[in-house]
Amino acid sequence: MTQNTPTRVVQTIALAYANGDLHVGHLVEAIFADCHARHRRARGDDVVFLGADDCHGTPIEIKAAAQNQTPQELIADIGARHRADYAAFDISLDHYHSTDSPENEALCAEVYRHMQEAGLIDRRNVAQLFDPDAGRFLSDRHVKGGCPKCGALDQYGDNCEACGATYQATELAHPVSTLTGATPVIADSEHLFFRVSALEPIVRAWAQSGTLQSGVLAKISDWFDDGLRDWDISRDAPYFGFPIPDEPGKFFYVWLDAPLGYIASLIAYLNATGSSRTWRDDWGEGSDTEIIHHIGKDIISFHAVFWPALLTAGKCRLPSRVQAHGFLTVEGAKMSKSRGTFLLASDLAAHVDSDAVRYALLSRLGDFTTDIDFSARDVVDRVNAELVGKIANIPVRLRGLVQDPEAVHLSDTLLDPALWAECAALADDAVAQFHAFEPGQAIRRIVDIATRTNGFIQSHAPWAQTDLVARNAVTTQALCQFRLIAALLQPVSPRFAQRCLAVFGTEAVAWADLSTPVLGTTAALPTHLMDRLDAGGIAALFNQPATPKEA
Ligand code: MSP
Ligand code: ZN
Repeated sequence: MTQNTPTRVVQTIALAYANGDLHVGHLVEAIFADCHARHRRARGDDVVFLGADDCHGTPIEIKAAAQNQTPQELIADIGARHRADYAAFDISLDHYHSTDSPENEALCAEVYRHMQEAGLIDRRNVAQLFDPDAGRFLSDRHVKGGCPKCGALDQYGDNCEACGATYQATELAHPVSTLTGATPVIADSEHLFFRVSALEPIVRAWAQSGTLQSGVLAKISDWFDDGLRDWDISRDAPYFGFPIPDEPGKFFYVWLDAPLGYIASLIAYLNATGSSRTWRDDWGEGSDTEIIHHIGKDIISFHAVFWPALLTAGKCRLPSRVQAHGFLTVEGAKMSKSRGTFLLASDLAAHVDSDAVRYALLSRLGDFTTDIDFSARDVVDRVNAELVGKIANIPVRLRGLVQDPEAVHLSDTLLDPALWAECAALADDAVAQFHAFEPGQAIRRIVDIATRTNGFIQSHAPWAQTDLVARNAVTTQALCQFRLIAALLQPVSPRFAQRCLAVFGTEAVAWADLSTPVLGTTAALPTHLMDRLDAGGIAALFNQPATPKEA
């Protein structure tokens, strides 16, 4: 393995809305990002992995009122639940913050001041939807209608989930207030606009510089060709958000303070760790920190157009990479409460080993935005066949072949150096796949090493060998290869990987030490490393008919 120069990496997951619990769709993103963060740490990079709750906006205010809570009580509650859910799946966030924080308020004011100084704010009267029954202007999330671009029905007032277009709520066909069911009327209000159009050349050049996946770039190129729209960054009271400085009755639109919440999380992290760095060391113009945002395909426009424009205005560096993923479906369809396939992270954590969930999801993930499916059958089959059957089984089956399973002395040479070289090459390739945001491909390489290792044991039939030295040669090579597998599983299934590495008395293996075979050392073989998943229990959790008993 070649030694790489360590890089400072700031990595983020999209900030989950603080109006509901995390579901398995959120986990897809968190686990994908966590796998990359763990890979980068194993590579020796200096990683800061950040998250936060996205707390502002009308939906949260309304939900709090419905539950007889203040918005602050609601977001404190949900924040604690989100943290617990991420922790249950070993998401190794270095800091988890909130967009409703003093750091973020100060940051919003700072960026807004830069926008004003650069002449990037316009005042315009906006014809806006007003709910006559509720007596208030309607937020984008409180009006639904037909998408003005593609005609899809039942779309919110800001962007279309079917085609990804962004637009004004007044452009919706047949709008209906989701607060009262009334047909809104149009009324005028003065709004502040961020002149994104003025920054188009910068945003376009950034988008074309290898920061986006090719499919994502193709998608947003149409928007550039149509000309970028200026963004309405103000909302009228009542609104749960930050007041705009010197603009009574006006608040920042939640999508202005939400992405700045990434930086606020970094600021809070630097403060909490007593770092001598400032946030501009990472996010200022000219910083060489690598900044990676993991997002779902539904929020591409915010991250690939609006966010780089906002960063430019704030005199910040632009993202190195916006890594978008597709949506998770469960049992082949959109998650559904009525079909019993709306899987909450907490329910999943209570019933399925987190390493198994991570393994099953990561097996399906890669550098693409097509949707991926999660099914009871697939989780059970994959985990039982691969993680338990092919991998966990290796040291367990070797136990019967050694004199003292608690202290196996590995020999000083490899029995089959060519096979080792093949496995080491597969390991290098797996690392390259992790690096290229292809965990599913990395896992295939890992399983390939396991298949070769099992085949190697089988073909040498050490149980038929009476010569202990010859037997030990087989055990040694198999264990060296098993250690390769264990190390490579660190980003995928960290607790399991740790149990596997404990066989060698090791807690963690850096990529730089990966391909050195652990010859001449001692290993302690376990009786058991991982339970098979219970097919019936998981089928019930996914609300599926019990599957036939496995062979
Ligand atoms: N609050 C915004 C993000 C602000 S980022 C500055 C938001 N929140 S969300 O809770 O709706 O979604 C958080 C992330 O989870 C998004 O990246 C979203 O794409 C992702 N997912 C939500 N449901 C999902 C699936 N069913 N499948 C995969 N990812 C999904 O958007
Ligand atoms: Zn549409």
